[in-house]
Amino acid sequence: MTTDTTTKDTAPGPHAPGETVLDARGVTMRFGGLTAVRNVDLTVNSGEIVGLIGPNGAGKTTFFNCLTGLYTPTEGEVRYKGKILPSQSFKVTAAGVARTFQNIRLFANMTVLENVLVGRHTRTKEGLWSALLRGPGFKKAEKASEERAMELLEFIGLAAKRDHLARNLPYGEQRKLEIARALASEPGLLLLDEPTAGMNPQETRATEELVFAIRDMGIAVLVIEHDMRFIFNLCDRVAVLVQGEKLVEGDSATVQGDERVVAAYLGEPYEDAPGQAEVAEVEAAEAQADAAPRKETDR
Ligand SMILES: Nc1ncnc2c1ncn2[C@@H]1O[C@H](COP(=O)(O)OP(=O)(O)O)[C@@H](O)[C@H]1O
Ligand SMILES: [Mg+2]
Repeated sequence: MTTDTTTKDTAPGPHAPGETVLDARGVTMRFGGLTAVRNVDLTVNSGEIVGLIGPNGAGKTTFFNCLTGLYTPTEGEVRYKGKILPSQSFKVTAAGVARTFQNIRLFANMTVLENVLVGRHTRTKEGLWSALLRGPGFKKAEKASEERAMELLEFIGLAAKRDHLARNLPYGEQRKLEIARALASEPGLLLLDEPTAGMNPQETRATEELVFAIRDMGIAVLVIEHDMRFIFNLCDRVAVLVQGEKLVEGDSATVQGDERVVAAYLGEPYEDAPGQAEVAEVEAAEAQADAAPRKETDR
């Protein structure tokens, strides 16, 4: 379900509305003895914003790395619009999957505009080198690309800062620039890894609107985020990873109401219902709290 159906009518490309854009099946990633991601299935359909949440170390970024060719999954397969994704990240970008990073990766000493232009040329390995070395091919393509790059800077609200060095932007704007750079590769699927990390509440709200607008451009979105309000406002579906495994998946209300998710975040065991002893203990404590004036506790 989406909150806005305009996307489905305006989605570019030959794929049908509601078509599966990303189809990850049985993705497992092991590092030596550690299984960071275990047998995870996840789909993203066109017109959708899907959230991926879970405690720190749950395997969310590792899963993204498996989707974008940074890692080759130990097991499982990842399809984008029906085709198995190649195992090199520049080929994945060329295929139509773009991403941002949990730790911002911009060219710090390039301008805002140049960073977006580089994003356009990461569609091919040759294009990337040409852009980095400013070869003749780049100069020619640059002219054609500049217009689109400026459109994207207008879209994210950084057009006025086109000539600023990336490293001089405030943190929130660097995150936005990363999104513009990812969009410059004209993706059909955008993966965002903690896009609001380090942002203030206003910037976070603005990012929410930005992600809706990206969805309305016909780009499916998969987003990792710790800010639950952001996730539950934004996402059509949310999947919860815990210790590398998908624990729950559903719409925001379903996930919010699932006690296993709450338990996972509080670090409590969720396999067993509370035993008699615990229930009695809680009831006793509550009775005491009602009778006596409130005391500081750590719970
Ligand atoms: N390249 C790597 N080599 C070894 N272990 C890794 C590597 N990348 C991630 N891990 C481990 O995988 C687990 C999941 O990490 P990560 O995917 O970053 O979690 P999340 O993004 O959910 O916080 C962690 O235990 C982490 O230490
Ligand atoms: Mg992470």
